[in-house]
Amino acid sequence: MRRLFKTLLVALCMVLTIAVAHAQRPHIIPEPSYIDMAQGTFTITEKTKIVVYDEAWDAAEVFAQDMQQYFGSKKPLRCVKRGSGIKVRTDKFVPEEGYELNIQPHEIFVTGGSEAGIFYGLQTLRQMIVEYNGVVPCCFIADEPQFAYRGVHFDVSRHFFSVEEVKRYIDILAAHKVNRLHWHLTDDQGWRIEIKAYPELTEKGSMRKETLVGHGLNPENWDGKPHGGYYTQEEVRDIVAYAAKRSMVIIPEIEMPGHSQAALHALPWLGCEEQIVDVWTTWGVTPEVLCAGKESTYEFLQNVLDEVVELFPSEIIHIGGDECPKDRWKECEHCQAKMKAEGIESEEELQGYLVARIEKYLNTKGRRIIGWDEILEGGVTPTATVMAWRGAKIGVYAAERGNEVVMTPLPICYFDFYQTESREGEGLHIGGHINFEKVYGWDPYEGITDEARKNIIGVQCNLWSEYLKTMEDIEIQLLPRLAAMCEVQWATERRDESTIREKMNILRKFYEANGWHYAPYYFDGRK
Ligand code: ACM
Ligand code: ZN
Repeated sequence: MRRLFKTLLVALCMVLTIAVAHAQRPHIIPEPSYIDMAQGTFTITEKTKIVVYDEAWDAAEVFAQDMQQYFGSKKPLRCVKRGSGIKVRTDKFVPEEGYELNIQPHEIFVTGGSEAGIFYGLQTLRQMIVEYNGVVPCCFIADEPQFAYRGVHFDVSRHFFSVEEVKRYIDILAAHKVNRLHWHLTDDQGWRIEIKAYPELTEKGSMRKETLVGHGLNPENWDGKPHGGYYTQEEVRDIVAYAAKRSMVIIPEIEMPGHSQAALHALPWLGCEEQIVDVWTTWGVTPEVLCAGKESTYEFLQNVLDEVVELFPSEIIHIGGDECPKDRWKECEHCQAKMKAEGIESEEELQGYLVARIEKYLNTKGRRIIGWDEILEGGVTPTATVMAWRGAKIGVYAAERGNEVVMTPLPICYFDFYQTESREGEGLHIGGHINFEKVYGWDPYEGITDEARKNIIGVQCNLWSEYLKTMEDIEIQLLPRLAAMCEVQWATERRDESTIREKMNILRKFYEANGWHYAPYYFDGRK
């Protein structure tokens, strides 16, 4: 009898163990589409091999290097063509950027619809390795993203960040399955990309004399310290390749016709009156803009874009288009003459004319344009992609008009905003209030008709760097809100508040394992 009881007890324990093993879902961000737990575990060590069946060497090598960092070992994990371990391959029956992750006791299979899919499957595995200290539970995960465009913007004009810092930024984005880096390379406060046809752009336009301190516009409030930097074309190629290895496309932004004071400082003939201006030392919107009347401006923009398209394989090129005051154009004989000659009735339409000409030019190079939503005001063509920043309603309008739209509305997606209501303990920021919960709860399809839904191609958050000087500042503004953003970008369903909190407590371990800074407010319960 006692033996029978003991046997029953053992059996009961086994059943309970299995039940527990089945119940324990991994805490993955963004949430995968489907998870089925199984029995057993696979232990990943420094000796685990990655077996690459087809061409996915980049994804495998990046994972191997990330694991080297995780184990603190001398060498990355070995990537081989045959053997057992983590087997990666592509399969055309898996969705393009999707993957299947099948963890079994002796092998792991990562099958992607493309190399990008494999990359994302390995990112999921990477999070699990940190969660389970290398002993990952057997399971089957099938996953694919909701949006094709999952972007994050990085302003390197207001403050310059080094090549190594940009790569670190890319690492952080890639771990969140972001696939577009919108690189804001030019603005009033600094021109950051080498253009061989116009060396003055970086010789003169990449350096400002000093920088405004605080929000104030008091003459005593400048720091007196020169600030600058730029990327050589070789460095740009290196960064583009680094991102591509992580299945990320870099979309360069060359601002026009506004936000161009650094270019005007370098090449005064680009302005209406050719007056001498400084690389701007203040934040905001300057009246100094490119002249839209002179043919030399169009020639300049085309020459710059000729070099840009050689450096960036991205199909879309960002041409800015935001916040362009028209005061100079109203007074300019060239702008007025151009309007007359072309039958253009307003200065807004003149901007539309400039954008349309640049779009046409880029089309001849096999590229398309994306621009901030002001490009709608000049009656933009239906083939341009609109980046809706002044509100989701503008995005809905553009999508209903037939344009492709990336949603990045100010009240949700401006990660330069404060993260807490009280602002206590936060550094100086531009203003506003966007916390983790606001981002996580956002529905980018809100207010859209079924017909226009297909035109919302993606979602992006923006990191303007007026008040962000160091990489630590950048990371604290980005994390953990990017985790909420990537749920919106990738997952079809948001899970409840307690589940996301549980997941975030695990992701925090992942951030720490990678040595990334993050803001404490969400974890401290501060809103
Ligand atoms: C913007 O924030 N000016 C696009
Ligand atoms: Zn002009």
